[in-house]
This record gives sequence, C-alpha cells and structure tokens, in this order.
Amino acid sequence: MLFSTIKIGNLKLKNRIIFPPISTNLANTDGSINESLIYHYARRAKGGASLVTMENMCISCPDGKSGITEPRIDDDIFIPGLSRISYSVHSYGSAAFMELTYPKVENVNSLSEKEINDIAEKFAQAALRAKIAHFDGVEIEAAHGLLVNQMLSPYTNRRTDIFGGNLQNRLRFAGLIMDKIKSLCGSNFNVMARLPVMDFVDNGITIDDGVQIAKLFEKMGYAAIHGDVGLGNKEKRLEPMQYPEGWRVYLAEVLKNGGIRLPVIAVGMIRNPGFAEEILESGKADIVALGRTLITDPDWPIKAESGREREIKRCVGCSECIKARHDEGTAIRCGLNPTVGKLESDEILVMAQKKKKIIVIGAGIAGMEAAIVASMRGHDVEIWEKENFIGGALNIAVVPPGKEKLKWLIEYYDFMIKKLGIRIKFNQETTKADIESSNPDAIIIATGARCLIPDIKGIKNDNVIHSRNILNGKMNLSGKKVVVGGGGLVGCETALYLSSQENDVTIVEMLPMLCPDMETLSRNYLLRELENHKVKYVLNSTITEIREKSVVASNAEISMDYFVISFGGIPVDSLYAYFNKRYETYLIGDSFRVGKIVDAISQGYAAGKAV
Ligand SMILES: Cc1cc2nc3c(=O)[nH]c(=O)nc-3n(C[C@H](O)[C@H](O)[C@H](O)COP(=O)(O)O)c2cc1C
Ligand code: SF4
Repeated sequence: MLFSTIKIGNLKLKNRIIFPPISTNLANTDGSINESLIYHYARRAKGGASLVTMENMCISCPDGKSGITEPRIDDDIFIPGLSRISYSVHSYGSAAFMELTYPKVENVNSLSEKEINDIAEKFAQAALRAKIAHFDGVEIEAAHGLLVNQMLSPYTNRRTDIFGGNLQNRLRFAGLIMDKIKSLCGSNFNVMARLPVMDFVDNGITIDDGVQIAKLFEKMGYAAIHGDVGLGNKEKRLEPMQYPEGWRVYLAEVLKNGGIRLPVIAVGMIRNPGFAEEILESGKADIVALGRTLITDPDWPIKAESGREREIKRCVGCSECIKARHDEGTAIRCGLNPTVGKLESDEILVMAQKKKKIIVIGAGIAGMEAAIVASMRGHDVEIWEKENFIGGALNIAVVPPGKEKLKWLIEYYDFMIKKLGIRIKFNQETTKADIESSNPDAIIIATGARCLIPDIKGIKNDNVIHSRNILNGKMNLSGKKVVVGGGGLVGCETALYLSSQENDVTIVEMLPMLCPDMETLSRNYLLRELENHKVKYVLNSTITEIREKSVVASNAEISMDYFVISFGGIPVDSLYAYFNKRYETYLIGDSFRVGKIVDAISQGYAAGKAV
C-alpha cells in the first residue's frame, strides 16, 4: 500500500510516504532561504517522498521567531525565495507544504482576545504567502507544546473566556486559524495539522480528548491529521534510540478507530519499509511520515519501491541531528548521512579519472564507508581486516540494552560491500611487507583505537578487565561488586549492561558530570536507566589505586570484586607515518582521532571521495 495514491483535500499524492517538518538551522539568519535549504528539500522529493513539508516557519517576527535561523514567512519579501523551494520539490512530482508555527508562550491565559485574533490572522497571512509561493498547502503545528497545543490543552489553558474552559472553547483558536485561512486562501487550500493526541502529562490532553479534538478538526475543514504528541516530555517527540520502532503509531490508530475519515498520518521512529507497510495494511494509519528516516536516507522510498530495501541506510536514532539543531544551534547533521546540509555538487560522486588499487585497512564503519564510496567511484577496493568479522567497535556498541538498532548499520555495510564486489581479507594483520608486496595506489588507514590504560597503581591486577571484554562476552560477571572507571558513554553503557547481569555497579568519573558530550534527551534517558538499574556513581573523582577488594579514589574508597576500565581510547595510527611517505595515504575514524559514528562516517566518506 505504501506506493498507492491517496488524496489530501484536493491534492493527489503519488504514494503514502511524506516528509514531516524537521528544523535544520540551514536558513540565513535573516530568515531567508539559500541553496542548501532548497537542495535539502528537493533531495527528499527526489528520493520519492510524495509530500515534503518545510520546517517550522516563523509567521510573526520578532515575537514569534524561535531560533536565529528559523525561516520566515511573515513578509512578502520572503515569497520569491520560498517559491524556489516549492518549484524544486514540484519538479520531482512531490507536493510542497510548509509548517506554520507560533512558539510556546509564557502564559497562554494572559493573552488578550485581540492578541489571539491577531496571531490567528498572522497564520492566515502566512498561508496566503505560502499559496502565492506555490506551496500546495500548509501544516498547522498544533502539537509539541507550541501555542496552538497550549490553547488546546487543559493543562495550560485555564482561560475563562470564549477561548478556554470546555473542549469546544479550547478548540476555538484552531478553528479561528482555519476560518481565516479559508477566507484568505479559499476553501480548497489544503491545511493539515499535527495533532496532540495525548499530552503525556497529568491533567493534559488524554487519548479520548485527542479523538474528540480530531473529530472537531475534521469538521473545521482540516485535510489531514498527524497522530502526534503534545506538550509533555520532549523525549516523546524526539525519541532516543532505545524507543522501539513505531512505538507511537497507536496515536494514529486511535484516531482511525475513533472514526476519523480524514487521512491519518502515523509518525515517529518508523524505519523499515516492511514495518511501514504493515501500519498501512492493518489500517492503523493512511500515510506514514518519515522524518529522521529520510534525513538518513532520502532515497528510502525509491529503494523500497524498487525492491532495494537492503540498500537503505536506516536511521539508528543516534540523535546527532537533535544535538546539532537543539543543543548546539548548529546546522543539522546526520550521524549516518554525511551529505545532509550540503549542496548537490558536494553529493554527486564523480567517477575517478584513473582506476586505482586501494587497500582499506580496517573494516570498522570508517573503513567500510570509505571503501563503498571509493568503489562507487570506480576504484578497485580491497579491505584488510584483522578480525574475522566486519563492524569493528560497533559490534560491542550494539550490546548494551536498547542499542540493537546499531546492528542495522552493520547489516547495511555488509550488504553494500557484497553488492559492490569489494573484497575483504579477514584475519589479515597488516604489515609493511604485505602492503609493499601488494603495491597499492592508495591506502586508507582505519585501524581504530586501542584501550587507554592510565598508569594507576594496581591497573595490571587480575581483577581489572577492559569494558570491551565485558561487552564482547569474553568475561561474564554476575552477582559481583564492580567499579567502572570512566563515566563517558561506553563506561555508562557498560555499567548498565553489568547491572542488567545482576552486578552491583559504581561508576567513578573524574569530571563533574557523566557523558557531558551526549545529546541532552538521550543523556537524560541514559541517566534515568542508570538510576532505574540502581547504578551508583561518584563524580569529580580521580582513581589513585586499584586494590584486591577496593578502589581508592580521591574522595572515596569503594569496595569491589572487579574493576572495569573505560577511560576511552588511543588512536592506532602507527602505520600512517611510514606509508604516508610512500603512498597516497588517508588516516580516518578512531585511528585519526577517537570520536563518534558521525566522525567515522564523515571521514570515511570524505576519504572515499578524495582518493
Ligand atoms: C532535528 C529535528 C528537528 C525537528 N523539527 C521539527 C519542526 O520544526 N517541527 C515539527 O513539527 N517537528 C519537528 N521535528 C519532529 C519530526 O517532524 C518528527 O515528528 C519526529 O522526528 C519523529 O519522526 P521520525 O522518528 O521519523 O524522525 C523535528 C525532529 C528532529 C529530529
Ligand atoms: S543523526 Fe542519527 S538520529 Fe538523526 S537522522 Fe541521522 S541517524 Fe537518525
């Protein structure tokens, strides 16, 4: 069913896959658009999504502006630029929508009736500009705790006038927006809504309310509805990796079961074509919205339709995009897709002028990404791997609870390497002599990192284990007292894993916080899990000695049976200095600088393009 047509209002969509709004920080700081933003949306259309929604748009500046790069539609001067986006999206046979938003206000109860009317008018004027700029419709952001959601929710709306009190009154603002849009843009202009089917807070919108709200939205003339989440914990709308695939499809399903006849859109963590198909087949929704899914692989629809689904790079939920957009205020980036935010000219892989013999040393993700890109460009690529499996450090990253999605990445590389006919030599320790006798034209070194072992008294004791040997199953601990040295991501996840094996675990960290570099929502999730599993931690603490039955740290002596080292890694780069003088050589991934998936893949991609 994914590839059957459907109508939203008067608009026929070529399939049931849409791209929902995802803010990018790619626009200019004056709110105007640029080449990166045009390409970003055109690329999702090119990949086969039938409808592409432009991110949250500012309808009233400065009062309604959120973030320094929010694209604006509050003035006619933005129409020409925006029309370039609709034009590009249309050229691939997709419909162009934009999301109109007004941010959360401090206190929704203190807005005057005039202010409410004025904001509704701003929504309508923005919709008219969207129409003039050839957008096929607009989406009203009525979810996620923004103003419309605040007005709908009994949690925030305690007004005693015609905009508050019973459900009918709380819906009046959404109705007013619709009436004004219809009177300015005509009754045929398509207006969708992201609906808060549930607020996920006590005294907020309940599922039953959500169904009632949807029924009234249907009556008001909305053309389609997302079964989305309301103003509760942000984690519910930007869910970390540990959430199961499609966990909130039920928010669409309740609308369908409640008798909503409008197209109902399911959203959130939908990653696999088979899973998406099942949602539609079972009648839980009429359309699927794929957000991060299409950030990671904009060609998901084309690949799924043409039976190439194993070529899809599936979003694993690493939250790099959220870290960029929400934590840092930097341009959107994707942990898995290094072309996000770039231009078409950056993305096109130019065939190599001379076919080179390339040896990639290391089948971790940096090496495999480099190998794939180099091979696609026509080079003859061989990977040398010292183990008898691919994936490198990712094989242990998948082990802690909730990290299973990372396996998708190994599956992707495995498939692509076979499809492209890239040879892999397993159990191949690389020596200078081996390389020299193979005489390659270029070498890509992706040899990863080794464990950092600080010079602490007792570090060589028998009761000291490296976290890697816990996660790869070489050492099984159960019912023991364990201290994990190092509270970075690997340390915390190893601690979580150990506690799930019935161990009593304490983390000792030198810094004042655990995992300071993690994206906030994922970090909060992890900290909550540590708490749920009763993992203890000591911060601001340097370990000075490991004894047989205790660890001595600067501010505590902790009794234990085993000490687990998780102090990070050191690049394994010893081959580089030698080969760099003799061959075209690239040093990437952890062997260049110990980093995250995003670093490994972007460096692998860059090396594959450069070679
Ligand atoms: C980086 C990022 C930015 C987002 N920006 C918006 C936005 O501007 N407006 C909106 O309604 N939803 C926004 N979302 C939510 C997405 O539209 C979508 O509902 C959510 O990511 C769940 O779907 P997914 O798992 O397919 O990504 C954003 C999500 C992400 C990850
Ligand atoms: S950055 Fe991570 S979570 Fe975001 S789209 Fe890419 S893979 Fe998914």
